[in-house]
Amino acid sequence: MKVTEKTGQAPSWALPALLLALVVRGAATDAPTFPWRDAETREWLVCGQCPPGTFMLRPCSRGSPTACRACPPRHYTEFWNYLERCRYCNVICGEREEEVRPCTSAHNRACRCQPGFFAHAGFCLEHAQCPPGAGVVAPGTPSQNTQCQPCPLGTFSAGSSSSERCQPHRNCTALGLTLNVAGSSFHDALCTSCPNFSLSTLEPGGTRECERALLDFVFQDISFKRLLRLQQALAGPGPRPPPPREEGRAALQLQLRQQLAELDARDGALGARLLLALRDARLAGLERSVRTRFFPAR
Ligand SMILES: *[C@@H]1O[C@H](CO)[C@@H](O)[C@H](O)[C@H]1NC(C)=O
Ligand SMILES: *[C@@H]1O[C@H](CO)[C@@H](O)[C@H](O)[C@H]1NC(C)=O
Repeated sequence: MKVTEKTGQAPSWALPALLLALVVRGAATDAPTFPWRDAETREWLVCGQCPPGTFMLRPCSRGSPTACRACPPRHYTEFWNYLERCRYCNVICGEREEEVRPCTSAHNRACRCQPGFFAHAGFCLEHAQCPPGAGVVAPGTPSQNTQCQPCPLGTFSAGSSSSERCQPHRNCTALGLTLNVAGSSFHDALCTSCPNFSLSTLEPGGTRECERALLDFVFQDISFKRLLRLQQALAGPGPRPPPPREEGRAALQLQLRQQLAELDARDGALGARLLLALRDARLAGLERSVRTRFFPAR
C-alpha cells in the first residue's frame, strides 16, 4: 500500500488556549483581559487582549489601551491573545491531501485527505474495497475507511468495490421466469424462460434458451478439477490439450462452452451429449440434478 506522510499537524490551539486560561477577565467589557505590571509605575493594570487576526504591539499603560496590530501575511492568531507575534501558517497539505481552509490572519491552513483516501496514524490511506460477497455499508470519508459487511441472505455483490452495496437477487418468479441457478452472496440468481427441455422444445426458440440455461446450470460453482474432468470426457480419447493453470478457471469455462457449442452445431443434441459426458467424468451427482431440472420425463 502506498502511503504519504501527513505534514504539519501541530496542535495550533495549544499555546493560545493556555494563555487564555491564565487570563483574568474584566467585568466591564466582552474582550478578555490580562494583568500587567506597568514598568514605570510598578502598578498592576488590567489590560484588554487583542482579537483574533491581530497580535499585541504594546500592552496598555495608565493612559492608553492595549495596542494591537494585524498579523502579517502567512501568519495568524486564532484566539484573543496578548502574543508578541502571530504564529506562522505552518500546515502544508501533502501529496494526497487537499486544502479545506486556506491560511488567513485568524486561522492556520487546514488539510484533509483527498477523495478516495482517509487519515490513519498521520497518513492518507486509500479507501478499502469490499471484496466479492461483501457490500459497502458506509462509504469511506476523509477520516474513515470504507465499512463493509458480508451480503445478507437474498443479496449479492459480484465484484470488489468501495461504493457498491449488496444488491437483492433477481426474483425470477416475479419476472414470470424459472429460477435456473440460485443466487449466492457472490452472484445474482440466474433466471430462464426454459422450464424444462420436455416443455420448451414445443416452443419456438425454446431449445436454444434451454441449452444456455443448461450450461449455466452445469457451470455454477463447479470446481476446477471437475471442470477439467468434464472437458476430458467431452474431448474423448486422443491427444489431450494441456491442462490450463488453476487461475484459468474462467478461460476453461469459456473453452468448454465453445467445445459444447460446436458439438451442438454438429448433431443438435447438446443435452444428451452433456449427460453422457457427465457420466464419463464420474460426476453422478451433477448428472442427477441436471436430469431432475431439465429432463424430468426421461
Ligand atoms: C418473489 O416474487 C414472488 C411473487 O411476486 C413473491 O411471492 C416472493 O415472495 C418473492 N420472493 C422473494 C425471495 O422476494
Ligand atoms: C416442465 O416445467 C413445467 C413448468 O415448470 C411444468 O409444468 C411441467 O410439469 C414440467 N415437465 C415435467 C415433465 O416435469
